[in-house]
Amino acid sequence: TNETSAGCSSKTLRDTRWEFPRDKLIMEEKLGEGEFGRVMRAQAWGINGHKGYSTVAVKMSKGNGGLSEQQDLYSEFNMLKEVSHPNVIKLLGACTQKGGPFYIIVEYAELGSLRSFLRKSRSLGFEFSDSSMVQVENPMYLSDSGDLCRRNDTRLTKRDLISFAWQITKGMAYLSDMKLIHRDLATRNILLAAGNVIKISDFGLSRDVYEGDTYLKKTKGRVPVKWMAIESLEDHVYTSKSDVWSFGVVLWEIVTLGASPYPGVELERLYNLLKSGYRMEKPKTCSDQLYHIMIMCWRENPYNRPSFKDLVHRFDIMLQETA
Ligand code: ADE
Repeated sequence: TNETSAGCSSKTLRDTRWEFPRDKLIMEEKLGEGEFGRVMRAQAWGINGHKGYSTVAVKMSKGNGGLSEQQDLYSEFNMLKEVSHPNVIKLLGACTQKGGPFYIIVEYAELGSLRSFLRKSRSLGFEFSDSSMVQVENPMYLSDSGDLCRRNDTRLTKRDLISFAWQITKGMAYLSDMKLIHRDLATRNILLAAGNVIKISDFGLSRDVYEGDTYLKKTKGRVPVKWMAIESLEDHVYTSKSDVWSFGVVLWEIVTLGASPYPGVELERLYNLLKSGYRMEKPKTCSDQLYHIMIMCWRENPYNRPSFKDLVHRFDIMLQETA
C-alpha cells in the first residue's frame, strides 16, 4: 500500500466503493462524545443491501480538533475498510463527498459500550459467594410457553465475563494477524451487540504497521495513560504486545465490572510506579487464574507477554471449564 497512515491521499478521497448518500441518513440521538468526535445513532435508508431503514451509528469529527482529528477519522475509515471479523465493528459506508462533513457509518451495537454495560450490571444484585460479584446461577429459565429463555436483564455470570475476554482476544488476534495495532484498547472503546457479542471499535488512534512490528508515534495526540504499556509511555513504541498490555487493563476492568484502573494514582506518577515494578493488585472478585493472565500481560519486556493467540487459547480452555 502506498497510502499514508493518516490516509488523506487523493486515492482515498476518490474511493467511492463505500459512498453513501447523505440525504438517506436521518440522525437521531447522540450515542457518545469525545473531545473531538461524536457518534450519533441514525436511520440509514437502503444501506448494506437492506430494504427500508436500518439503525446505524455515524461517527463524525466535531470540527474543533483541527487537521489531526480529521486525520484520525480518515485513518479509522481506512482501517475499517480492510477488516472483517465478527468481533470487530463493521463498516457500512461513509459520506466523503463535498457538501457536508465526513461521516463514517458503522453497525449499531445496541447494548452500548462494554464499560457502561458492566457498570449497569452492578446494580442488579449479585451473589457474593465464591468471592465473585457476579451471579453464579444459570441465567436461563423456562418461559410460560415452555421456551428456554435468557433472563432479560444485565445480570452477568462469570461465564459471561470470560466470554467477553475470549471474544476480545479473538478480535485482537485477528487485528494483530492483519498487522494492525489498536493503541486505544479499553472497555470504553469496546461495544456490545445483541446477544452479548463483542465489537472492538474506535480505531481513531490505530495505525498500520509498515516496518517491522513497531510503530513509532510521531505527533503528540491524546494518550490513554492508564491503558498504555510501559514502553509506549517511555518511547512511544506501539506493537501488538503493547495492545496485549492494554488488554490486561481491560481484563481488570471486566473483573471489577467497569472500575477505573489505578484508583487514586495520578497520571504523572504512573510511569515511575510501573518502572519500579508496581502493578495493580488482584481485585477481590478476581480468580488467581485471571489475575495471573493480567500479570503476564503487564510484564515489562513485551516479548515475555503472551500473544493474543495464546490468550484466545487460554480463554477457550477457561470457557470449557466454566461450561
Ligand atoms: N457508541 C459508539 N459507537 C457505537 C455504535 N457503533 N453502536 C452503539 N453505540 C455506539
